[in-house]
This record gives sequence, C-alpha cells and structure tokens, in this order.
Amino acid sequence: MATTASPIQELSQQERDERGAQLKREGIVIRTYDLWKTYIMGDQEIHAVSGVDIEIRRGEYVAIMGPSGSGKSTLMNLIGCLDTPTKGLYYLNGKLVSDMEDDELARIRNKEIGFVFQTFNLLARATALHNVELPLIYAGVPSSERIERARQALRAVDLEGRMHHKPNELSGGQRQRVAIARALVNNPSILLADEPTGALDSATGNEIMALFERLYKEGNTIVLVTHEPDIAAHAHRIIHIRDGKVERDEAVAHVKRPS
Ligand SMILES: Nc1ncnc2c1ncn2[C@@H]1O[C@H](COP(=O)(O)OP(=O)(O)O)[C@@H](O)[C@H]1O
Ligand SMILES: [Mg+2]
Repeated sequence: MATTASPIQELSQQERDERGAQLKREGIVIRTYDLWKTYIMGDQEIHAVSGVDIEIRRGEYVAIMGPSGSGKSTLMNLIGCLDTPTKGLYYLNGKLVSDMEDDELARIRNKEIGFVFQTFNLLARATALHNVELPLIYAGVPSSERIERARQALRAVDLEGRMHHKPNELSGGQRQRVAIARALVNNPSILLADEPTGALDSATGNEIMALFERLYKEGNTIVLVTHEPDIAAHAHRIIHIRDGKVERDEAVAHVKRPS
C-alpha cells in the first residue's frame, strides 16, 4: 500500500512518538527537522537558526563550523537543551525534546549531554574529584558510587593523580581534562564541546584534540563547535553553518601520516 508522507510538523502525537522510536532504533542520536530560533530586536526579527535539518548518528565525531555570528552558539544551545526552538522539531536519543518544559529539559540535559566549554566552567573552590562528581549529585547517585565513578572518569583522562587538586592548582590543559571527565561521568549520549581549545595555547590545544580523538575511538559521540578550520579538521565530518543555515555537510578523510 502506498502512503503519502506528510510533513513531519503535521504528524500526530502518536506518529511523532513512533518517529522517535524509529530514530533510536536506527542509532540516530540527534535529528532536527526545520529548526528555527528567532530573536525579536525592536521591530527586527533575527533568524539566528533558520530551518536547520541535521542528523547525527551514534559514534560520529562532527564539527559544526562557521564564522562569528553564523548561529553556532544558538544551535549548540538548542542541541544541548539549554534553549528551546521557536519552531521545528528536535529529537535527542529518540525523545522529542523541542516541546519539553524547562524542568524536564534540565533532566534530559543532565542525563544525555556532557558539556565542554571554552573557559572550562569548573567550580573554583572544589577539587577535581568533586567537580567531576557534580553531575552525579544532580542525578541522585549515592556517595560511594559517585566517588568511584568520578575517579574512573579522571583516570580516563589521565588525571587520577591530580584528583585532590583545585582548578587553580592545575594547568589550563589539565583543567579542560577535568571538564571533559565531568562531561563523561554520566555516560551521556553526546559530548558537546564549544570552542574547547579557544583558551589554550596551540600545543595544549593539540593534546585536547588528541584526547577527543581517543574518546571518539572508544565509541563516544562528539559534537564540536568551532570557528577554526584547523580545529574542525580533527573531526570526521564538518557541518558548515552560515547565516543560520547548513551551507555544506562534508566528510573528512583522515590520511595517516607516515611516522
Ligand atoms: N539573545 C540574543 N538576542 C538577539 N540576537 C541574538 C541573541 N543571541 C544571538 N543573537 C544573534 O543571532 C546571530 C547568531 O549568533 P550566535 O549564535 O551567537 O553566532 P556564533 O556563535 O556563530 O557567533 C547573531 O546575529 C547574533 O547577533
Ligand atoms: Mg558563538
């Protein structure tokens, strides 16, 4: 029997749920349909994100790249469930999150997304271990299990030996590794990094990019937001953004250099 596919926006609630289940079965972690974010400034409408369709599969390593003002941060905030779209649908790990209320969104965010920011965003007065424990505290994990999992996450970024240090007793690269351990400790569906090397010198930045490559090889799904082509080139796919739209979607071939 032939069926006519109706636009996704017109699907019933049941059809939307079925779509989510199908995306999950197919291993599609992120799927946006005609996603928009419009800001009103006086009598002007600014379409920071205008009609974006993106599909990212489990285990991919994708960079979202574009010049300043192209809508990267706005898109990252939508993907990271920090903000809700003006229009369109967003499925994260099979769940339709675009129409969720703030509290439900916060719960999903803590469970599904590990954030890494340019400026690390660590608690200054807490040890590395305690910083990494935080997402588990929010998730209600009991203390002994929390400490064990935080230790493991710090071990995964080679920082177990510094776990009792506070951020100001660590180098920039070590701070970012603590932030990456914190992002990973909840076993999120995606690691979402916004200009993660922006505050680091280039040698330290390269170490962090090498760590992302290793985490990718270990099966993590990584979405990297950057304006720098050199950084984006570390990913295995680059989604080019301009004026709030996807301009180009490019697979990156990684040729092994002879050593
Ligand atoms: N809260 C806001 N209110 C109004 N306009 C905004 C807001 N946030 C971003 N914009 C505008 O949306 C566009 C995209 O911004 P942004 O997502 O920050 O781009 P990028 O991260 O690529 O530099 C820009 O024109 C910016 O001025
Ligand atoms: Mg930005």
